[in-house]
Amino acid sequence: MAVSSDWNASLYDARLNFVTSYGESVLELLEVKPGEEVIDLGCGTGRLTAEIADAGASVIGIDASPAMLETARSNYPQLRFMQADASNFKVEHPVDAVFSNAALHWVLDAEGAVRSISNALKPGGRLVAEFGGKGNIRSIESAFLRNLIGCGCHDAAHAWYFPSIGEYASLLEKHGLEPATMWLFDRPTPMEGEDGLKAWLTQFGHAFTGCFTPEQFDESLNKTVEDLKPTMYREGVWTLDYRRLRVIARKL
Ligand code: BEZ
Repeated sequence: MAVSSDWNASLYDARLNFVTSYGESVLELLEVKPGEEVIDLGCGTGRLTAEIADAGASVIGIDASPAMLETARSNYPQLRFMQADASNFKVEHPVDAVFSNAALHWVLDAEGAVRSISNALKPGGRLVAEFGGKGNIRSIESAFLRNLIGCGCHDAAHAWYFPSIGEYASLLEKHGLEPATMWLFDRPTPMEGEDGLKAWLTQFGHAFTGCFTPEQFDESLNKTVEDLKPTMYREGVWTLDYRRLRVIARKL
């Protein structure tokens, strides 16, 4: 069952705005120049899209979530946003750059996403992206799956894509994108408040799939919080075991 089919944009901005804040350093890698055409793939509520526009670029924010786009359009009515899936989006003409922060791990058809990104770029255009890499949220993922299985859901799985550098570099090369620089690194991520992990799982838990009921989901969520508290929670802050994959690649 799917716990929630769309995102909660207000929870995202209220409790999970670190996702966008960490994206600031990814945006620096983009080195936007005035007059460039840029796609912000997986733009969420649009804050980084607006920063790209503020740097003088012409930007289109793309997201699959109607709730996120509704908030993005109301926050930034002057900007262009488009609903599309990252695995098969199309643009009217090729652009200078595709930027993506904390989105590509949601796209299970990673090859479709890389193909679409490559098709969207001019020769010499660049992809600058960051998302979850191999080993991302390993403790949370394994505790939640263990608890779902413990509740009787034997087909529990999750729907995220966390590749290694080698795996992703091969995919980029297959679709005409030359990796210039790639990094895989730990980025322990704080979530404030005793209910921090619960808020995180409430927003992102819909990526866990299987034959469970809402009651089994809630039981697994509470058990996961209990199991991880001794190692992840200290003095009012949860520290989540994020690992990031950063990519700069050029269209050949
Ligand atoms: C991430 O940004 O790595 C992430 C966010 C939500 C769920 C899983 C991973």
